[in-house]
Amino acid sequence: MIQLLLGSSDVKVGAIGYGCWRFAGSSTKEADSKIRTALDCGMTLIDTADIYGLGEPRGFGGAEDVLGDVLRASPDLRSQMVLATKGGIDAKRPYNSTYDYLMAAMDQSLLRLKTDYVDLYQIHRPDITTPMSETARALNDMVKAGKTKYVGVSNFTVSQTRALQAHLNTQLVSTQPEFSPLHQEPITDGTLDWCQESSATALAWSPLAGGRLFSEKGAVIDTLDRLAETHNSTRGNIALAFTMHHGADVIPIIGTQKTERIIESAKAAELPLTAREFYDIVEAYRGKKMP
Ligand SMILES: NC(=O)c1ccc[n+]([C@@H]2O[C@H](COP(=O)([O-])OP(=O)(O)OC[C@H]3O[C@@H](n4cnc5c(N)ncnc54)[C@H](OP(=O)(O)O)[C@@H]3O)[C@@H](O)[C@H]2O)c1
Repeated sequence: MIQLLLGSSDVKVGAIGYGCWRFAGSSTKEADSKIRTALDCGMTLIDTADIYGLGEPRGFGGAEDVLGDVLRASPDLRSQMVLATKGGIDAKRPYNSTYDYLMAAMDQSLLRLKTDYVDLYQIHRPDITTPMSETARALNDMVKAGKTKYVGVSNFTVSQTRALQAHLNTQLVSTQPEFSPLHQEPITDGTLDWCQESSATALAWSPLAGGRLFSEKGAVIDTLDRLAETHNSTRGNIALAFTMHHGADVIPIIGTQKTERIIESAKAAELPLTAREFYDIVEAYRGKKMP
């Protein structure tokens, strides 16, 4: 699979990443098989979060626990992946990016993941009650302590991202917005422009709209199906190719729990979508031709 630099770092990751949001129900054996399949396909960026598992039997930390069990059983896998996690959602509050909370959350994530460090630590959602300078102090100290190599944000507006960046000693390497043919706001809200301004990577969450792509109807779906026929591909892979075709470095993070779908998705990284076809999907979403 094509490899891309993660933001302004010198770390390379596959053009498609694999996410563990839906992981908490997996046995260690099942999770091991999904992670190995993703890595074998070149999806070296593995994304999780401390909150994944909340509302399910394993609860908060459940998805990190499962991934940690995989890493404990096969420690060699750790060096094959670029491991990303997130913190800052505290379901009751509901967001917490205070210094003490984040430092404790990071330590808990490392314990669950059974690793000494993560490659990327992301603030999951902005906590607008905490000064950005305080959140930045936590991220700076995590990097200094070697607990994470790089830092990023998720679901931040561009101005929130810039406000945080102003207090960091290190460059944010990523932002993680929702981005798919059914959710194209990052094209117009400045997120993907900020990525190019800052040489940061956009990690697109729910690039298949969390599965809605397969249950909805409408102009976008019709366009994806027409292009799938043209390219002898699938609706899902045209959607992934769409996210990757934007001029910013966008890495879609897929979330299927089926190994055969992980393998099929990898083909999207080679799909020769044209600019015209990309605009067809934008026009279908906007309901009008480009001006
Ligand atoms: N930062 C954030 O706030 C945030 C929020 C959400 C997600 N994320 C990240 O993004 C990752 C991906 O999110 P996601 O899981 O929503 O991604 P997604 O790839 O858009 O959606 C995955 C869902 O689509 C279904 N699906 C895939 N292919 C299908 C097909 N051909 N037919 C029918 N259903 C199909 C999957 O079901 P099967 O399992 O049955 O294939 C699964 O339920 C997460 O794991 C997480 O790392 C981040």
